[in-house]
Amino acid sequence: MTWQFRPARPEDAQWLWQLRNTPSVRLASLNTEPIAWHSHQDWLAATLADPAQRLWLAAPRQGAEAIGQLRLDFRTGQCLMSWSLMPEWQGLGLGKSLLCTWCQGIDVELWAQIRLQNHPSNQIARAAGFTCVRQTDILGHWCRAGRTLTDLQTITHWP
Ligand SMILES: CC(C)(COP(=O)(O)OP(=O)(O)OC[C@H]1O[C@@H](n2cnc3c(N)ncnc32)[C@H](O)[C@@H]1OP(=O)(O)O)[C@@H](O)C(=O)NCCC(=O)NCCS
Repeated sequence: MTWQFRPARPEDAQWLWQLRNTPSVRLASLNTEPIAWHSHQDWLAATLADPAQRLWLAAPRQGAEAIGQLRLDFRTGQCLMSWSLMPEWQGLGLGKSLLCTWCQGIDVELWAQIRLQNHPSNQIARAAGFTCVRQTDILGHWCRAGRTLTDLQTITHWP
């Protein structure tokens, strides 16, 4: 698998909306409600314009269509990651391959908040080098060790 990552663009709005409203992705999210198209559009515009956030689409090889997304949110001062795959590509080992490949190229401290019941996501986080450092009622807080950042702009090259 030679994963290709490219930054999300405004024209990816429909694809990202479809992914975000997939039942398995909704269930894994903090907000499990369906997202309305207009609020999704506002969210995407704000995310793409925000220097403290990054959003990538992932394709399993050069020239292939994207099948998943990775997001990095630095608004709290930590690199908080999230990830998801289109439903037809889930459960095939691709999520593990995707996250491990992306993380291989990164030496900064990464965080993820994962529902305790989300076994596939817990598994792939562990495989990619994250450790669950704290648990609350429904969430595990996972950390992958690395250097701490003060600003996302200091990283000029992402995977
Ligand atoms: C989370 C996600 C990216 C994982 O990717 P995936 O390709 O489906 O997962 P994989 O097939 O790589 O499986 C990872 C592990 O979970 C296990 N697994 C997969 N589906 C499972 C299930 N329904 N129940 C329990 N374990 C499961 C696999 O056996 C594998 O275990 P292993 O490491 O022991 O081999 C994907 O399922 C997804 O997009 N889910 C919806 C969104 C989501 O949960 N995002 C994460 C929010 S934190």
